[in-house]
Amino acid sequence: MNALGEPVRPAWQRVPADIMSLSDYERHALHHVERASWAHIACGADQELSVAHNRAAFDAIRLVPEPLPDLSDAHTRVDLLGKTLRSPVLLAPVAYQRLMHPDGELATVRAAMAMQTAMMVSTLATHTIEDIAQAAEAARRELGRGAPLYFQLYSQPERSTSLNLVRRAETAGYEAVVWTVDANIKRSRFPLPPGVEAINLRGSQQQPTQTSDLTSEHILFGTPLAHQAPGWDELVWLRAQTRLPLVVKGILSASAAKRAVELGADAIVVSNHGGRVLDGVVSPIDVLPAIRAAVPASIPLIVDSGVRLGTDVVKAIAFGATAVMVGRPQLHALATAGMLGVAHMLHLLRSELELAMAQTGCATLSQISPTLLACTDR
Ligand code: FNR
Repeated sequence: MNALGEPVRPAWQRVPADIMSLSDYERHALHHVERASWAHIACGADQELSVAHNRAAFDAIRLVPEPLPDLSDAHTRVDLLGKTLRSPVLLAPVAYQRLMHPDGELATVRAAMAMQTAMMVSTLATHTIEDIAQAAEAARRELGRGAPLYFQLYSQPERSTSLNLVRRAETAGYEAVVWTVDANIKRSRFPLPPGVEAINLRGSQQQPTQTSDLTSEHILFGTPLAHQAPGWDELVWLRAQTRLPLVVKGILSASAAKRAVELGADAIVVSNHGGRVLDGVVSPIDVLPAIRAAVPASIPLIVDSGVRLGTDVVKAIAFGATAVMVGRPQLHALATAGMLGVAHMLHLLRSELELAMAQTGCATLSQISPTLLACTDR
């Protein structure tokens, strides 16, 4: 049953005609996803204040249009981690994509390559690191175009397990390691339905989660979860293990961003994990100017959490972002229309971005500056 109490509908083989924006995919996806999986992807922490604020923070920013721009050489290209990408919109790492569609990450990665969009592949993917890389390579060969894959790492209880994942990603041709730091302490684990598993962790020690057992003496402090949670020394260790660019994901303060860069991070993802970890936290857009000022200009800042519109991309870049990512929208599109849906979702966002750039007089991303921003009502 879906969250409406109706039988779950299979994904469309085409893009539904009434989809005009990313929010339309969310409306459709509700029909195509099991109730429990829907709750899992839609939810934020506690009262979901952060989820709401992520949108409100973007909505409170106003853009000042600029008429009559010269768009003859206009483009949306951006340099990131040694490659030129066609667009500053990336796919954020999102776990367990087979909850949305039987093809899971394989559908997403094909769409990403077709749309020349870089994709971060989660440690908790439901296809192997190698199969996803192979699907990407096959799509690149077939289409004659593509984009890089980055591997997102969640530190594992044993460093040897983390290292093995990194080595597999290197061998499979991933072009960066994205180390997520904001979700090591989790309250509970979502019970996965049969046929959906974190296949890349098969056979390795499971990450402990916080207990809610009233009879246990410890809750979080004093438990294996707290003992095993990685610290800054893990970044030093990880930096020494790989020559791939290292991206630290889940930073919301200038001091943490500075420290990550000092310890060897090549880029930062400014993110509150889509409001899923701690409720009532700042949104990336609130802290972006301070983080931009705290780290060298050569360090790319990637922003996610609440990005849904082309104008959001312009706003984030005006505040200092190099690129942005979408999380939930890829799931909504995947559930609604599989690979086609994800490709179409990325197309919609790129169309909106080009329109917003044209309207604000920007022929390139480097022309997007704080002068486009008016006073906000925040
Ligand atoms: C995530 N996110 C996430 N992040 C990460 O580093 N590794 C992961 O495996 C996951 N898994 C995951 C599952 C689901 C269901 C969601 C919704 C999110 C966080 C993700 O990368 C990104 O930071 C947020 O989704 C961005 O916010 P929006 O775009 O969903 O608002």
